[in-house]
Amino acid sequence: MTTPPTPLIELVDVRKTYRMGDEDVHALAGVTLSIAKGEFVAVVGPSGSGKSTLMHLLGFMDRPTSGRLIFDQEDVSQLSSSAQATHRARKLGFVFQSFNLLPRLSVTDNILLPLSYARDGRKNGARRAAEVLDRVGLSHRARHRPNQLSGGERQRAAIARALVNSPQLILADEPTGNLDDQNVERVLELFRELHAEGQTIVLVTHDVNVAATASRQIRMQNGRVVPPA
Ligand SMILES: Nc1ncnc2c1ncn2[C@@H]1O[C@H](COP(=O)(O)OP(=O)(O)O)[C@@H](O)[C@H]1O
Ligand SMILES: [Mg+2]
Repeated sequence: MTTPPTPLIELVDVRKTYRMGDEDVHALAGVTLSIAKGEFVAVVGPSGSGKSTLMHLLGFMDRPTSGRLIFDQEDVSQLSSSAQATHRARKLGFVFQSFNLLPRLSVTDNILLPLSYARDGRKNGARRAAEVLDRVGLSHRARHRPNQLSGGERQRAAIARALVNSPQLILADEPTGNLDDQNVERVLELFRELHAEGQTIVLVTHDVNVAATASRQIRMQNGRVVPPA
């Protein structure tokens, strides 16, 4: 007998409804899914299918209208905004399409930023920043400003920033959307390595090659998960 993998995330009949004028928009129309610790999941689906809404819920940026959201065995469906902020700082790392590095800070100082919101603050921060910079192969860029880096290097710096607090989950929204083919491959290789080391990753992508690199695809359509074929 194999024990079932421990879920990191469980959604049970999650709905998210936006009121637009006198019309309800069902951005999520009853989503039930489970993501195990250590999974690398690609969320795919047409524009408007609910991918960003799902990512906002997983990122504690928003709350479901109804249904349950469980993170690491804790019901986080209706956390207060301040509890959501604490969860984000301690448990999550974010990677964005447009990198979102602060232009006036060095790479190292960008990487240190999430620690200022986390429990242990910047204690041991310099050492930790050096570790994650080494992990993404950018030790030689520590003192550079973001605009002195190539697009691929910027995204690797952003991944280092996402890793600095040893997150339980990395959420990435179109992380390769602004990269050329060569840098897409380099960033995907890094995600694959992190996955092999046990990191849980959920990314949204329009790119079939990027989706194929994940260990599982979740396909969204009209606010629902399409059952796997
Ligand atoms: N803040 C909002 N207010 C009203 N409608 C929204 C809002 N956010 C998303 N929606 C609607 O919910 C649906 C799903 O959107 P979204 O999650 O952004 O889809 P995707 O990321 O797959 O393109 C769309 O019909 C969108 O217009
Ligand atoms: Mg979207």
